[in-house]
Amino acid sequence: MSDTVRISAADVAYTYEEDSKPALSGISLEARAGEFIAVLGHNGSGKSTLAKLLNALYLPDSGTVLVCGMNTADEDRIWDIRREAGMIFQNPDNQIVATVVQEDVAFGLENLGVPHDEMVRRVDEALQAVHMTKYAASAPHMLSGGQKQRVAIAGILAMQPSCIIADEATAMLDPAGRRDVLETVRKLNTEKGITVIWITHYMEEAATADRVIVVSDGEIALQGTPREVFQQVETLRKLHLDVPRMTALAHDLREKGFDIRADVLTVEEMAEEVARRLCPSN
Ligand SMILES: Nc1ncnc2c1ncn2[C@@H]1O[C@H](COP(=O)(O)OP(=O)(O)O)[C@@H](O)[C@H]1O
Ligand SMILES: [Mg+2]
Repeated sequence: MSDTVRISAADVAYTYEEDSKPALSGISLEARAGEFIAVLGHNGSGKSTLAKLLNALYLPDSGTVLVCGMNTADEDRIWDIRREAGMIFQNPDNQIVATVVQEDVAFGLENLGVPHDEMVRRVDEALQAVHMTKYAASAPHMLSGGQKQRVAIAGILAMQPSCIIADEATAMLDPAGRRDVLETVRKLNTEKGITVIWITHYMEEAATADRVIVVSDGEIALQGTPREVFQQVETLRKLHLDVPRMTALAHDLREKGFDIRADVLTVEEMAEEVARRLCPSN
């Protein structure tokens, strides 16, 4: 992670219809180069609205959103902004535009007017990065949901973005597809330093983030490292959110008087805590 700010929002508000309650208000956040930020929140809390504001699909009613220093309100930069901050959505079928995988990945580049040789190279590299090279000539509709999401990610990668915004990109996938897609994005994050905003319903996915932001009723309710956020079990439950299973178990055991850490996130950490308690001399 570095100090370079890739995405910033300053006191952003957004309302869909006049006279209705704001979908978002007072939103300020910064995402740095190489950072992986998970965004959690109950249905209707404003997560998708936030994603769309960060990628200039919506413009804030007030406040400012900057992507790599470019203001999303600056119409001249809108395509540069969308190229820098690629977006993956929930439904893989809605993101495929071509009938052959490699053409789908090349689609955005064609629109940018990238020369043919460079386009071929970038498509190859992008498919390699998501482990889909062997499907380059396949029809997308033959692929699994997880494979389709990886093709969508390749299409974004070919544009050489500095950020990826994923709005519940794993919600429609089976457990194997979910794991593959998260691992793919995680690898791009650590190896290429791509900043990731990962909106999810899965607490276990959020537990692996550098930072977690919890949105409730259009405002940021909590933020911090996964440990800092998830040990606030009661607050999260009031916001109708779960916590990772092992954090919940640690919370219940502590309520029964067991002396174990409150910020346990994984099965391995729980096993260590239980072992420490059973054999205090270790
Ligand atoms: N296209 C829309 N028109 C009007 N209201 C909307 C629209 N999309 C979302 N909303 C409202 O904005 C609020 C936030 O929605 P959304 O950002 O989709 O939340 P989330 O992604 O967390 O479920 C909700 O109250 C929702 O009903
Ligand atoms: Mg949503």
